[in-house]
Amino acid sequence: MLPSMRAKEQNNAANATPNISDDASDISKEQDSAANAPSNISDDGSIDMSSVLQQSQVLEVLEKLDRELVGLKSVKTRIREIAALLLVDRMRRSFSLATHPPTLHMSFTGPPGTGKTTVALRMATILHRLSYVRKGHLVAVTRDDLVGQYIGHTAPKTKEILKRAMGGVLFIDEAYYLYRQENERDYGQEVIEILLQVMETQREDLVVILAGYKNRMETFFSSNPGFSSRIAHHLDFPDYSLEELLAIAQLILAEQMYRFSPEALSAFEAYLQRRMQMPRFSNARSVRNAIDRARLRQANRLFAKGGKVSKTDLMTIEAEDILASRVFTEDLPDDEQQSGTSQTTVFHDPDTSA
Ligand SMILES: Nc1ncnc2c1ncn2[C@@H]1O[C@H](COP(=O)(O)OP(=O)(O)O)[C@@H](O)[C@H]1O
Ligand SMILES: [Mg+2]
Repeated sequence: MLPSMRAKEQNNAANATPNISDDASDISKEQDSAANAPSNISDDGSIDMSSVLQQSQVLEVLEKLDRELVGLKSVKTRIREIAALLLVDRMRRSFSLATHPPTLHMSFTGPPGTGKTTVALRMATILHRLSYVRKGHLVAVTRDDLVGQYIGHTAPKTKEILKRAMGGVLFIDEAYYLYRQENERDYGQEVIEILLQVMETQREDLVVILAGYKNRMETFFSSNPGFSSRIAHHLDFPDYSLEELLAIAQLILAEQMYRFSPEALSAFEAYLQRRMQMPRFSNARSVRNAIDRARLRQANRLFAKGGKVSKTDLMTIEAEDILASRVFTEDLPDDEQQSGTSQTTVFHDPDTSA
């Protein structure tokens, strides 16, 4: 980084005035007029909804979302509603019914592996196709990416991230770690203040999604009312049912051109029933990890056997590839040892270690 740039950033930090998108505002204007440019108004003074839809290519994203994500019914409904709102907003602008763009900051609550990051990525694409944001990328961060170690480091760090996220979605995972009630001099407070300001003043070009466990997020919002008032949509991602997890497994397998033999399918169901009761179960992520392990065992099995292998052999996961998991042989991992450690616990899936 050039010394002059550093100086400028520090200067910003001292003023505590976020000045994030000074270079972005021009582009954002361009984009705006581009979105309005083709007049969709026909002679009878109406707009053809289907042509607006087609132009935006948003339906494909919505359909892909339906197809590729199991369950999440209420999440999918809300995303459709948001898409409709943005489309209507866009058509209103064609009639010069200018309004402030709707606020779209969101919270995604739910346990790990329930699809929050995946949906945030899709959301970024939808927002881009509907011209709400310029670029439609997602920047995913946690507390450590925003908070500095020393005095004066936090504001530049946060602003650098905000700059990167401009024109897209800033996804803050486990957002409640920004706030430490017991420590009033915590630098997280500085991040919160900058975020609140940017969420208010630059909301046409940045969508902030705060993610984390539902109960902790609720506590966070009640201690930081500024956030709740800026968040327009709360989406809840519940734990998946056994049936949904099995459907997710089938999707992941198909995507990788593998399949379960009928016996492997029942073995996997038994696997999930046990795994779901164990500590650090993380829904679809555990399913993905378990499939990775099963592929490894399948490869070893085929390798050990030697001789000829068919295409079917190469594609098929057998029951023994599942049943060799530690989940079937060990007692529940002792969770006691984990309690008392901080949030920075290294997540360790019983499926991923030997
Ligand atoms: N409903 C779903 N259908 C299919 N795959 C899913 C679903 N939800 C999550 N996954 C998969 O599970 C993994 C973890 O999802 P992720 O979005 O990272 O969860 P989170 O952010 O809530 O921890 C990803 O590989 C994702 O593709
Ligand atoms: Mg995630």
